[in-house]
Amino acid sequence: MGDPNYIRGASLTKSVCVAVVGLGKIGLPIAIQCVRHGQRVIGCDINPAVVETINSGRSHVQEEAGLDEAVAAAVAQGQLSATLDTTAAVRQADVVIVIVPVVVNANHEVDFRGIDAATASVGAGLMPGTLVVYETTLPVGTTTGRLRSILEQSSHLTAGRDFSLAYSPERVSSGSIFRDLTIYPKVIGGIDSASTEDAVAFYRRILDAEIIVMASSDEAEFVKLIETTYRDVNIALANEFARFADTHGLNAGKAIVAANTQPYSHIHSPGVGVGGHCIPVYPYFLMHGTEEGLTLPRRARIINDEMALYAVQRLEAAIGSLSHRSVLLLGIAYRGDVREPAFTSARLLRDALVQHGATVFVDDPLFRDDELRALGYTPLSPEYRQRISAIILQAGHQAYQSFDFSLFPECRVLLDGRRALQPEVVESHGIRYISIGDGTLTHPGPSVEGHPCGPPLDEISRSGESGLGIDRVGGPLVGLSGALNEGEDRP
Ligand SMILES: NC(=O)c1ccc[n+]([C@@H]2O[C@H](COP(=O)([O-])OP(=O)(O)OC[C@H]3O[C@@H](n4cnc5c(N)ncnc54)[C@H](O)[C@@H]3O)[C@@H](O)[C@H]2O)c1
Repeated sequence: MGDPNYIRGASLTKSVCVAVVGLGKIGLPIAIQCVRHGQRVIGCDINPAVVETINSGRSHVQEEAGLDEAVAAAVAQGQLSATLDTTAAVRQADVVIVIVPVVVNANHEVDFRGIDAATASVGAGLMPGTLVVYETTLPVGTTTGRLRSILEQSSHLTAGRDFSLAYSPERVSSGSIFRDLTIYPKVIGGIDSASTEDAVAFYRRILDAEIIVMASSDEAEFVKLIETTYRDVNIALANEFARFADTHGLNAGKAIVAANTQPYSHIHSPGVGVGGHCIPVYPYFLMHGTEEGLTLPRRARIINDEMALYAVQRLEAAIGSLSHRSVLLLGIAYRGDVREPAFTSARLLRDALVQHGATVFVDDPLFRDDELRALGYTPLSPEYRQRISAIILQAGHQAYQSFDFSLFPECRVLLDGRRALQPEVVESHGIRYISIGDGTLTHPGPSVEGHPCGPPLDEISRSGESGLGIDRVGGPLVGLSGALNEGEDRP
């Protein structure tokens, strides 16, 4: 490693100009991180509303605490501006960070169109000596193959000779980005050693976190796919344990917490599916271009997606056929307290319920009714509350801790898909509480007056004498490992 303060073509004795391409939930906080560390930032986006909002000193991203104030201050001080003209911005930049999404289509094929377009715009303005870093999650080989080629064709420059090119995955989670940037090591791999050195020097200036240098951009890309695929496979295993527990009268939640007291066991939490743009998507990036191998990731995807059908099976085991019954889904966001519906398990749950003849209503305090309709859901209106026979909690929003279950007099069962609720609160309204892996699939609870399904919980577990940090059968897992409660995608 050479001088860590060296950037090809840029003097680190003065602040550099950084073009951040893609000012979304991740790009805008990254832009602010650069400003906070003395860099001047030109943010680039194709969405005029995003550019306009930022230039007026406001943030369109609501999830990050302090982001609004930071954007206002950065714009007022002339340290941050936004533009639709990526090419012009890149012409002025010493460093370009690209954080434009790569997605998968309905057939799980990787769709590079967004990043290809962004890369062509970057290449058109690329000047000799610039450092280009991709932070978007990518299939292995994308930086050094596809993107390098687009950059070279559109700039008529040669990567490694005329400009530096590196990959560094963004590992943060929406909602805690500034915290995560201080604690998660930054993984960096360049297409050659000079590119790696330039990228390391740049990130040393804007981050306090540890830096991990990989041998290549391919290896750095692989890191992000490993960490996300690991979680998908882990959750699939937890789901298999939960289904086993359900048919054997065992409590998977308790068993997993106990198993995780062994330091090499890190089993995540079972649930009604895995959502978000990362965990259910990146295994497909890993499989991209490979027909064989990766047996476990392939199987894990199927297992996790099948949890929606399994949830329906649990409801039917509790109250009989769902045909002509109304079911309420609580939370369509892919995880609690994040206003993001990408690849949410709510979609699979809705489809599975409809397949079984149910009418599906949804509630999500983070979305307006017109937004829910635009996403293909039917928001619950007050006149239909009386019809609800069953509820599935899909996203553990904080607001559901004070949800008024007394509004659903005909509801007989609630499946807590995230173990987020207090069973006794649900049961105090005469609604049976069940969760994935609670061991009650083949052990329906005793009848209680007015509620044929009755509360299913075993009294011993409810007494709070677990000694393992668990105080009941269902409800939030009080994990001994931070890895628990990960049935929902995080990043
Ligand atoms: N969201 C997360 O929690 C998270 C976490 C870790 C990593 N990531 C990575 O970050 C990437 C971006 O995620 P995000 O949540 O910020 O996405 P986002 O959808 O919030 O924002 C993406 C932005 O890119 C802009 N854009 C699209 N095409 C463009 C182009 N050609 N030129 C310029 N801008 C363009 C869009 O208008 C949008 O504002 C993800 O694809 C993923 O690889 C995301």
